[in-house]
Amino acid sequence: MTMWKKHANFERHSLWMIIGIVVVVSIGGLVEISPLFYLESTVEKVDGMRPYTPLELEGRDIYIREGCYVCHSQMIRPLRDEVERYGHYSLAAESMYDHPFQWGSKRTGPDLARVGGKYSDSWHKDHLTDPRSVVPESVMPPYAFLRDKDLDYRDVQAKLSAMTRVGVPYTQDQIDHATDDLEAQADPFDSRATALKKRYGAKIAQRDFDGDPDRLTEMDALIAYLQMLGGLVDFRTYHAEDPENQR
Ligand code: HEC
Repeated sequence: MTMWKKHANFERHSLWMIIGIVVVVSIGGLVEISPLFYLESTVEKVDGMRPYTPLELEGRDIYIREGCYVCHSQMIRPLRDEVERYGHYSLAAESMYDHPFQWGSKRTGPDLARVGGKYSDSWHKDHLTDPRSVVPESVMPPYAFLRDKDLDYRDVQAKLSAMTRVGVPYTQDQIDHATDDLEAQADPFDSRATALKKRYGAKIAQRDFDGDPDRLTEMDALIAYLQMLGGLVDFRTYHAEDPENQR
């Protein structure tokens, strides 16, 4: 009973109430925020994550330029309906090389965090050229012009080195060969692919993404980016509680 009586002071005097609220909220805030100052990193390292190839990075820039994030998120929440629809929920590590991140805040269209490998390259080409040719009820705008625009990658080296400034671990070798690597990835017959795969991993998709072998277009870069999304971490071998995945 005496407890309740003391509480009455708080309820009757708004100043005490305010001071009380501030004290309680600050304790909660400190508990949440202070660990972040001494933890080296809050992102668990996960096998399979690698910096984007130069072609994927250019594709990502087109994704940002065209505002795809306005209608598409790239973050699968750990809720049952999301996981059943899109696949394994997104890990923090999966966007660790995204500057800026592409989580998005609105879904007019579906989440794209795991769209890689879901469709063929030619489906993407048709869909981006005219969404309603493959999904009749779609409200997505067409991006046919991407097929006709040659990819301008003159500053791809500078883009890679800019990324290193914000913590993406591109090596000097990767920066020096960015142009070679970009051209090699978009041409299935390019002999420089061996070097590309040595730099970025054997799983790199080396194809003519837009189906037009004579040209290296913005469509090539965007599809290369989309086909990589969500496929870097192998979820058949990933277990959240496995210390191997938490180095
Ligand atoms: C005005 C909103 C809007 C914008 C902007 C938009 N989309 Fe979409 N997108 C949609 C809608 C709605 C769908 C679902 C219907 C369909 O498949 O077309 C969709 C579907 C997709 C799909 C198929 C996803 C799946 O799992 O079936 C991909 C891939 C995609 N969009 C990529 C893009 C890219 C890349 C851009 C930017 C160049 C973009 N979208 C811009 C609305 C949008």
